[in-house]
Amino acid sequence: MGLFATLVQKISDHPVLFIFVRGILENDFRAIRSTIRRELDLGPSARTLDLGCGPGAFADLFEAGDYVGVDLNARYIDHARRTRKGAFIVSDAKHVDLPDARFDQILIFGLLHHLPDDEVRGVLSECRRLLAHGGRVLVIEDIPAVSRMNLIGHLIHQVENGEFIRPVEDYRRLYAEAGRVERELVMQSGICDYYAAVLVTA
Ligand SMILES: C[S@@+](CC[C@H](N)C(=O)[O-])C[C@H]1O[C@@H](n2cnc3c(N)ncnc32)[C@H](O)[C@@H]1O
Repeated sequence: MGLFATLVQKISDHPVLFIFVRGILENDFRAIRSTIRRELDLGPSARTLDLGCGPGAFADLFEAGDYVGVDLNARYIDHARRTRKGAFIVSDAKHVDLPDARFDQILIFGLLHHLPDDEVRGVLSECRRLLAHGGRVLVIEDIPAVSRMNLIGHLIHQVENGEFIRPVEDYRRLYAEAGRVERELVMQSGICDYYAAVLVTA
């Protein structure tokens, strides 16, 4: 592993640094936050699952409602429990120990590009099980940097540990197997490019 990749790994391992550095690269997540505000219900009656919530950087948006964050990384969940409101569970996103139809909406931000296709199918199938009828998933996932001039964006993707950064068509194909894409958008968050899709699984 090169020096830069080692540095990125070290930063990723530390919850506070992870949020801080991504916040700089992504302009304080302004575009991501505004997409979440637009597409999801932040009101008191909303039951929200944040799958692959990391250290809980977006939990504050859902403070008014019933929010559960799930992540495989116990260190991130420990940090989220200490610093955010909501319930946090260490779990694989493919098998969450919660009842069927427990949630009205699910946020997935930056999880699926860490997973191969068969595991993405497993996560989306778990979303179907956990969502109440009429529920929706907002999925925001990394895509290859759109502009050739975005050298830092290309570099970050070379070294970050998401091995499955897909073009939009590949995400579309996987989502079509799980439900219907109601709305979609290619968006920029600081130097990072994303494909955001609202998926209805019922
Ligand atoms: C790029 S981070 C995004 C975290 C958070 N959504 C955010 O934007 O701050 C990806 C997260 O996915 C988690 N993750 C990876 N594979 C997972 C799995 N199978 N189940 C649950 N979480 C997983 C990692 O631990 C990491 O926190």
